[in-house]
Amino acid sequence: MTTTDEIKKGLAGVVVDYTAISKVNPDTNSLLYRGYPVQDLAAHKSFEEVALLLWTGELPSEAELTEFTAYERANRALDGRVKAAIDLLPIDCHPMDVGRTAVSVLGANHPLAGDSSAEAELRKAKELFAAFPAVVAYDQRRRRGLDVVEPREDLDYSQNFLWMTFGEDAAPEVVDAFRVSMVLYAEHSFNASTFTARVITSTLSDLHSAVTGAIGALKGPLHGGANEAVMHTFDEIGIDKNESREDAAVRAKAWMEDALAAKKKVMGFGHRVYKNGDSRVPTMKAALDRMIAHYGRAEMLGLYDGLEMAMDEAKGIKPNLDYPAGPTYHLMGFDTEMFTPLFIAARITGWTSHIMEQRASNSLIRPLSAYNGPDQRSF
Ligand code: COA
Repeated sequence: MTTTDEIKKGLAGVVVDYTAISKVNPDTNSLLYRGYPVQDLAAHKSFEEVALLLWTGELPSEAELTEFTAYERANRALDGRVKAAIDLLPIDCHPMDVGRTAVSVLGANHPLAGDSSAEAELRKAKELFAAFPAVVAYDQRRRRGLDVVEPREDLDYSQNFLWMTFGEDAAPEVVDAFRVSMVLYAEHSFNASTFTARVITSTLSDLHSAVTGAIGALKGPLHGGANEAVMHTFDEIGIDKNESREDAAVRAKAWMEDALAAKKKVMGFGHRVYKNGDSRVPTMKAALDRMIAHYGRAEMLGLYDGLEMAMDEAKGIKPNLDYPAGPTYHLMGFDTEMFTPLFIAARITGWTSHIMEQRASNSLIRPLSAYNGPDQRSF
């Protein structure tokens, strides 16, 4: 008989498999992608280079990067069938539903839909990487009553993403903060959505099905949905552009004290693996600071600091990546509901790398359960 000790609720602490893609080390607060510290990649590499690193295991040569860049730029346009499917969805459905549907439509129409060879999967991963920004950009625009903006091949991934969303060239500082967020969100070992993708792949299902399922897992507020929830917290406290940093901090602190007294879980804080702080937060916070300076919004820093300090004092729980990412996307002009789809755009790299790794060394993922229903009976 199974004992309670043997049951690992939420698979907490269970090591399921090897991965060579990333290493999360909670003791040293570090995160490596294929051996490289994520903060070094965020400081020096484009998101396109990081994508190739995750997929292939190595940073690309100049020739490899040139070839991929050309391929990515040629595959950016919003597929007419995807646009038609999005247009069928209610304008007020959650944008994660739009992202999930778009990936499913792309999978059903892919010329190599039935081919899960390593070559086919790498091609599908690259094409999905290239195609997804247009989905997010179009979805935000249609909700604002605006038309599609065509991609531009003279822009890099981040510049073009912002161009397609807002229809204007973004300032270099904004492009850089966006790139940093993509690099930081790209990969994080066996989190819930990645594990979902691996479970689906383990049945020998296809890459688009695995990514579609992963998007479903990411949608939840205990996972990717937290970046959006952080912004709802800021909104609930109230954002007043004319308020001083100090006053905003006082109000945020009071809000947090009330929330904790009411035993609320505050999104954007805490982590299943990191217990002393999320390794990605300092880099993302620095990007947020640059955005606050760029847009002249000191009150946002007050809200940020107030919440963080009050949580630390009361429970010692540290922010996770979603905490600085949410306000950063807000300042850039993204609607709050689009934050988690931005996470999809980034995490497509990590998910597809794990899908390929799982397939290369597959074993059906099928755990056991302990039955605690009624004993056998007859009716
Ligand atoms: N706000 C308030 N309290 C929190 C908290 C938060 N964000 N995160 C954890 N805690 C508290 C829990 O209430 C619990 O306290 P208790 O022991 O007094 O009951 C304790 O810390 C342990 O939390 P638990 O939820 O059991 O840890 P976990 O490892 O299962 O959870 C998360 C990890 C991420 C699910 C959890 O921290 C959380 O829900 N955070 C908010 C959602 C979020 O930001 N998700 C994005 C993750 S990157």
